[in-house]
Amino acid sequence: MNKHPAQSMFDLSGQVAVVTGGAGVLCAAICRCLAEQEVKVAILDINNQAADRLANEIIRVGGEAIGISCDVCNRPSLEAAAGQVTGTWGRVDLLINGAGGNRPLATTRPELSFFDLPADALEAVFNLNIMGTIMACQVFGRLMMAEKKATILNISSMNAFRPLTRIPVYSAAKAGVSNFTQWLAVHLAQEYSPAIRVNAIAPGFFVGEQNRSLLMNEDGSLSFFCAIDEGLVFTVARPQDMLRSTEEALDAIGDEIGGIDLVIGFDCVLRRLDAENRQIRHQMEDLYQRYGVVGFHTYGEQFNAMHLNQTLTGIAFGKRASQTR
Ligand SMILES: NC(=O)c1ccc[n+]([C@@H]2O[C@H](COP(=O)([O-])OP(=O)(O)OC[C@H]3O[C@@H](n4cnc5c(N)ncnc54)[C@H](O)[C@@H]3O)[C@@H](O)[C@H]2O)c1
Repeated sequence: MNKHPAQSMFDLSGQVAVVTGGAGVLCAAICRCLAEQEVKVAILDINNQAADRLANEIIRVGGEAIGISCDVCNRPSLEAAAGQVTGTWGRVDLLINGAGGNRPLATTRPELSFFDLPADALEAVFNLNIMGTIMACQVFGRLMMAEKKATILNISSMNAFRPLTRIPVYSAAKAGVSNFTQWLAVHLAQEYSPAIRVNAIAPGFFVGEQNRSLLMNEDGSLSFFCAIDEGLVFTVARPQDMLRSTEEALDAIGDEIGGIDLVIGFDCVLRRLDAENRQIRHQMEDLYQRYGVVGFHTYGEQFNAMHLNQTLTGIAFGKRASQTR
């Protein structure tokens, strides 16, 4: 497949990525996507069986990956993992700090008040999210400094900006991750190289292993929570045929601007997962190619105080009048 020039600008092929918590729901999707872009992926996870399973899955479809058992809260374990990555591929270009999450015992509920949350559960959540991120940046960051060019991506949360009900220490820890990310970005750029980038993403909600019991009730229904109180579900959206609705939307835009030349699009990664589940991913990709859509996967959109998933937003450029004749 010919790459659009905009895609070539973001070519990652041959780079080495380390993804902590790489076998989890979010980071497994990131690992698969990196491998599709011909990135060599080291999947670090405390669940070594899940890490190996994912690495084998990636290798089966032609990618390069290794699963490595690693506890991000333990510096010697991180050092050992770093040794394995450099022993295999010689360097690290990209670090994604995905290991994180909450625990039921660090979550308030009618039978467990804030005053009784046990210290060991609070410490475990705090350490995993904050120390697990900071120590991984120390260990892999040192290796990256040799290249003077690197990217670190931390995973914060919308909780960092607006603490939600019931999960006090998770929210505080993720606020710390956002703060630390900004500090590290400036520190590495000033002290080492301006070609080192440190950023964070702040996802909204999706069901991962660490928050399944928080987001879903025992009967499988969804539990919503917000900044003020636990939420109520008033409206459940009915999904439309994704292919048809996207094509109709692009057609309508094309009619308005005299044909589409290029769309810079921001497509929520949940749409892609949905397309994979429905086995229409290739058809969606063909559709995007037909309409000249290039761009990024996102984690939805923030609309005032509300986070919306499954969105596709973008900027469409119309054809020149001379092209439409
Ligand atoms: N799910 C959400 O709604 C949501 C929202 C915002 C942010 N996040 C963040 O995104 C990241 C991924 O979340 P997810 O929902 O995919 O979680 P997940 O539970 O599916 O994945 C987390 C992974 O981290 C691994 N892990 C746990 N402790 C570890 C340790 N000490 N060392 C190494 N690996 C460890 C787990 O084995 C698991 O594979 C986390 O940082 C989470 O806080 C998730």
